[in-house]
Amino acid sequence: MDKLLIRGGAPLNGEIYASGAKNSALPILAASLLADSPLKVGNLPHLNDVTTMLELLGSMGVEVMLSDEMEVQVDTSNIQNLNARYELVKTMRASILVLGPLLARFQQASVALPGGCAIGSRPVNLHIEAMQAMGAEVSIVEGNIKAKVDGRLKGAKIIFEPVSVTGTENVIMAASLAEGVTTIENAAREPEVIDLANCLIQMGANIKGAGTDIITIEGVDRLEGATFSVMPDRVEVGTYLTAVAMTGGLVKIKSAKPKYLSSVILKLEDCGAIINQGEDWVEIKMDASRPQAISLTTGPYPSFPTDMQAQFVSLNSIAKGNSTVTETVFENRFMHVQEIARMGGNIALKGNTAVIEGINKLKGAPVMATDLRASASLVLAGLVAEGDTTIDRIYHIDRGYERIEEKLKILGADIERIS
Ligand code: UD1
Repeated sequence: MDKLLIRGGAPLNGEIYASGAKNSALPILAASLLADSPLKVGNLPHLNDVTTMLELLGSMGVEVMLSDEMEVQVDTSNIQNLNARYELVKTMRASILVLGPLLARFQQASVALPGGCAIGSRPVNLHIEAMQAMGAEVSIVEGNIKAKVDGRLKGAKIIFEPVSVTGTENVIMAASLAEGVTTIENAAREPEVIDLANCLIQMGANIKGAGTDIITIEGVDRLEGATFSVMPDRVEVGTYLTAVAMTGGLVKIKSAKPKYLSSVILKLEDCGAIINQGEDWVEIKMDASRPQAISLTTGPYPSFPTDMQAQFVSLNSIAKGNSTVTETVFENRFMHVQEIARMGGNIALKGNTAVIEGINKLKGAPVMATDLRASASLVLAGLVAEGDTTIDRIYHIDRGYERIEEKLKILGADIERIS
């Protein structure tokens, strides 16, 4: 099994490009199921989760063609079955995103229940309840969500509590082909929801309010293919910026959309980084001294993203001063704490808060990646640690970071993939 070996201590300097956003690519690929002609999706990141979604579509008989520019053409005209099988769903919870499109276009779907997950229970009840509110009959049979509807789904008023990103996306997709008007209240405001809505609008959907907490969708009779380019990955960009805030250096990230990263950028400035930005680039400068500790609480967009929480625990572990990091979105999303502690980090967990006493230096150690963002935090810890850090189970990183070691090498890090 591949590992990452990092020899810490090098500052990061140079320029890299942001990749396409995983969390935008996944719903947009699922949206191809709604179209009666091929959808072309560009700027797709090379990531295991994207491959899993393409495999999932392929397993249903959807034709997937890859162009040289990593543009994928998805054609659902010969779809053969409407099942999302457990073998694929269990590796990626976002597979639930096919539920709404399948029901809306084919009036039935069978999607395996995702099951347990390293970052808390992460149920799918909100997805199921929303489909029921739109007229679907849903039952759980042998671990599968079996859903069907007589005729078309019907527009409905859906109120999310708590706010759910993929839940909002599933409803937007289902409602786009439903009969009548659907209103989503307490909708997720994440930029990836806007990206999906923009793609659907190009396919012929009638969606208003994406990016606010009330979204209105008037169903249309048919959607057709379009050509759409996925937005940049704000979590990837945030992760590299945080890396520089820890190692020191000067890094410019191109093809980024920093306006969607304000909550993270503000925290990085608070910890001493100087950040310049344009519409599609962001640059960070950090002197060689340690960052100032900064406390934060995660929340749905536009609050501080839970997908950046682990990276900031890592930053705070070597910061000047003490801090608290409170996680409000997912229970049990602190698997990285024990691993950072193995590198000398001084972190105590009190309920959903990590209480961190910044230390001068972490020490390299063998550590284990436990989930996607936890693994990113270990890479950052390894980059500043004294000595060698080996990170095991990096398939978690490959789910969400495109060529992470290549990008970091370009910036001067001493990092390699070993088996
Ligand atoms: C998405 C992102 C993930 C990010 C998360 C929160 C994708 C593919 N993934 O995940 O990277 O960390 O948003 O920003 O976009 N909940 C329920 N019932 C449900 C669904 C969710 O109780 O049916 C709860 C969850 O347990 C969690 C909260 O709602 O506490 C938010 O989860 P949600 O926004 O749904 O996360 P995902 O969409 O799965």
